[in-house]
Amino acid sequence: MPKYILTINKKQHIVEADPDVPLVWVLRDYVGLKGTKFGCGIASCGACTIHLNGNPVRSCQLKIATVPATAKITTIEGIGEQGLHSVQQAWLELQVPQCGYCQSGQIMSAVALLRKKPNPIDKDIDTAMAGNLCRCGTYERIRQAIYRAAE
Ligand code: FES
Repeated sequence: MPKYILTINKKQHIVEADPDVPLVWVLRDYVGLKGTKFGCGIASCGACTIHLNGNPVRSCQLKIATVPATAKITTIEGIGEQGLHSVQQAWLELQVPQCGYCQSGQIMSAVALLRKKPNPIDKDIDTAMAGNLCRCGTYERIRQAIYRAAE
């Protein structure tokens, strides 16, 4: 099987895998980063959201062979430089999660939003978070946590 060099959370990993394996499974099963979740597998739920070169992407839709060796992959485990990221802190303070399954994807989208728009308004949040579904309906707490993180 081919080998791939991946830079994940600033560390290099060499992974031997089938070229068609989606990145979500590489992260979870080959590298052991279980924070990225698998939900639908068809780009509909956002649970698998990670950052590729700082942009939120759905790791269930990225085959490992299509990820350039130069790409910088960031997962939920890698967003806090020292301790928790301010978005994670806000999530904790406002007790956003209910079952929690979708929340790492939600946080990755929120971090990407705040990087682009440090002072978002409702419309920005609606647009940035539209692809992240939460079956528990935590949307209002997510909105409030994004505003808290932006303070
Ligand atoms: Fe990737 Fe649902 S698991 S979008």
